[in-house]
Amino acid sequence: MATYFEQNRASFVDGLKSFLRIPSISTLPENKPDIRRAAEFVAAELRQAGLTRAELIEGEGNPLVYGEWLGAPGKPTILFYGHYDVQPVDPLEEWKSPPFEPDVRGDDIFARGASDDKGQTYILVKAVEGLMKSTGRLPVNVKFLVEGEEECGGEHIERYVSSKPPQLQADAAVICDTEMFAPELPTLCVGLRGIVYTELHVQGADHDLHSGVYGGAAPNPIQAVAEILCALKDREGRIHIPGFLDRVAPPAPAERQAWDRLPFDVEHYTKKEMGARELTGDPDFSLFERVWARPTLEVHGVRGGFTGEGAKTVIPARAVAKISLRLVADQRPAEAAEQFRNAVRQVCPKGVAAEVKLLHSAAPSLVDPGNPFIRAAARALTESFGKETVYIRSGGSIPVVGLFDRHLGIPSVLMGFGLPDDNLHAPNEKFHLPNFYRGIEAVARYLEFLGR
Ligand code: BES
Ligand code: ZN
Repeated sequence: MATYFEQNRASFVDGLKSFLRIPSISTLPENKPDIRRAAEFVAAELRQAGLTRAELIEGEGNPLVYGEWLGAPGKPTILFYGHYDVQPVDPLEEWKSPPFEPDVRGDDIFARGASDDKGQTYILVKAVEGLMKSTGRLPVNVKFLVEGEEECGGEHIERYVSSKPPQLQADAAVICDTEMFAPELPTLCVGLRGIVYTELHVQGADHDLHSGVYGGAAPNPIQAVAEILCALKDREGRIHIPGFLDRVAPPAPAERQAWDRLPFDVEHYTKKEMGARELTGDPDFSLFERVWARPTLEVHGVRGGFTGEGAKTVIPARAVAKISLRLVADQRPAEAAEQFRNAVRQVCPKGVAAEVKLLHSAAPSLVDPGNPFIRAAARALTESFGKETVYIRSGGSIPVVGLFDRHLGIPSVLMGFGLPDDNLHAPNEKFHLPNFYRGIEAVARYLEFLGR
């Protein structure tokens, strides 16, 4: 069986390249036709892998792709999840090869979505295809749910999963959309942050004003945005939103100790991986706690005033800031959004009106590493990589994990094959091809374990 996987590596890469050529950016309306092409591509791949059903689920938003093979009665049912949508590509000029013309350089394939999440979704498809083609069947029952709105916080999948459709019934979900802690180090992710994504709209005067004539008397909305941000998160990185931290569950001592044993070079992380001068954040917490187990408040962009070439002396009438809060267990998105709204109201400077609009939100998630599906995954990874599997959390969000837990009552196994330097959401995103091949074999091996 190993031979089918080894013999077909080149064709796996060819197939992945076709997938990566589709610019399925979910945040941009002009890419809608590409979104559909990507969904159809996934459905066709599932059919050709040997699933008995593979179809698009239409609804408000981008199509979901559903597939199934249920020929192993009495065996567990695994629900595979992935997303076919990708992030925008700007700044385009920083890419060394065009984002939608996949380029293999050395052991890496460069393209938007290579790691997040087309390459990793494709691992699941090829694992199933390999087992079907080499043995004619699968060791367990398998379902696929692949969405096209993960990167933009779309709600199609939430509406679908929360309607608890019988066809989603499964024993566990398996998701490849996270990272390995280090190259060669098999990793399971057992915690993700949630998110509350907002826009802060600040209105000053009802039209732009001459900054010489009115400066000294007029409210300035961009200054107000800055003041609000600084009031809600101080220079030390401490968040000041009343009630916001109350539900934060600290990691257990054993988990913290396991984090201390992870192979980690803070200098490399700071200077090479991030390309930053030094680390920031609340000094009362360790780095891993800050990025995995503490909430955040980050500003992503500020729009307003004059940003063109040269100088224009104006006091803008309005400003908008995109601000997100990342949440950790046991924080609740609706409650956190309300706390944020109230805090903005309290610190809003005089002369301006501030309004918070909620764009999307998702709950944090934490899975029990003692769960049998996680334990079997750790064994499969350890065998595939020849190293003991480590357990980490991630600071990113995968909204469906909370939905599977809440509406389907199933745990998610987060078996990621990305690497810390894959440049997710950034120029020159890549996927390490040895991880692609090994991922396919590890997922196939995992299904065999589960079928025993
Ligand atoms: N795959 C990422 C999340 C991720 C990255 C998890 C690295 C673990 C390690 C996912 O596609 C993503 O970026 N999600 C968005 C979700 C948001 C838009 C709701 C995120 O985290 O910003
Ligand atoms: Zn992703």
